[in-house]
Amino acid sequence: MKKRVLVTGGAGFIGSHVCDTYVADGYEVLCVDNLSSGKRANIAHLLDSAHFQFVEADITHPEAMATLFASFQPTIVNHHAAQKSVVTSLEDPLYDLDINGKGLLVLLACIQKHPIDTFVYVSSGGALSKVIEGDETSREEDTPQLISPYAITKYAGEQYLAIYAEAYGFVYTVLRYANVFGPRQIPDGECGVVPIFVNNIVANQTSVLMTYPDMPRGCTRDYVYVGDVAEANRLATIRPLNTVVNIGSGEEIAILDIYETIAAIFEKDSNIRIEGPRAGDVKRSVLSNARAKARLGWQPQISLEVGLLALKKEMKLGL
Ligand SMILES: NC(=O)c1ccc[n+]([C@@H]2O[C@H](COP(=O)([O-])OP(=O)(O)OC[C@H]3O[C@@H](n4cnc5c(N)ncnc54)[C@H](O)[C@@H]3O)[C@@H](O)[C@H]2O)c1
Repeated sequence: MKKRVLVTGGAGFIGSHVCDTYVADGYEVLCVDNLSSGKRANIAHLLDSAHFQFVEADITHPEAMATLFASFQPTIVNHHAAQKSVVTSLEDPLYDLDINGKGLLVLLACIQKHPIDTFVYVSSGGALSKVIEGDETSREEDTPQLISPYAITKYAGEQYLAIYAEAYGFVYTVLRYANVFGPRQIPDGECGVVPIFVNNIVANQTSVLMTYPDMPRGCTRDYVYVGDVAEANRLATIRPLNTVVNIGSGEEIAILDIYETIAAIFEKDSNIRIEGPRAGDVKRSVLSNARAKARLGWQPQISLEVGLLALKKEMKLGL
């Protein structure tokens, strides 16, 4: 029998690539998205498939979700829908709690009534990073900093999921992403530093770099290509680990280095304005991917440079 996967946030940047992977692998896919930041265009190429359905709905609405679970009867839930901005979570923590907290609990309540086999939950390795010293990387077992409501709701979600999995007899994997980049990403928030810089560089507009006195090249991040992230979802679905796993490159790169790499690949340059640090931002972030390699059989295949070239090609800016 075909596996039936409900993908929340499937019209978004990462979720749409995950839908592509499931459809290619022969799953029956129901994509649920309220299009608050996702786009129909991201899934337009899938709408002709007999194995793909899209429903515009909000995961925080219990009746709407109950109806979808009852009719589609998913065996797998892949949960990408979220409020994804650290800044928004600080400005409006109730909204963050509503989407990231209540939204997950609504799905888990549906699962109580309509049991599933497997849950893939998306968390943030960047936001849940520990304080990094020297050449350390952040490991899954480290104590996270929890310096934003977004980090708190994502972390709480991990804990809720573990409890519900035990109580309702399904297996799960928590994928803690590093900073994901690639085609379909929109420049809306701190996750979107790559498209923000790309757009500014292409349009010859000034970019902003947030720095600390001891980090003049800006915060550091770990960048992972969206195709590699979709592959991690494929593996987590067939090989659930019942634990948390980081999905990152293991490479630490300063934001100014990202900017300069993009400028070099797009063969353009524009101005950059230096500003002070932003509340809620983790200063340094780089994820150990040792667990993903050992237990999921996953490792990143696409480097930052190759991924940026793919993005340039997608944007039809020539190579
Ligand atoms: N982009 C990154 O670098 C990154 C890093 C770590 C974790 N994540 C996580 O990955 C997931 C996907 O992020 P993304 O970058 O693709 O962002 P995105 O905004 O493109 O995707 C989120 C999707 O969820 C949908 N959505 C939001 N609220 C909803 C609701 N109430 N009901 C139904 N749909 C709703 C949006 O319309 C959108 O399509 C999120 O959970 C995010 O926290 C992203």
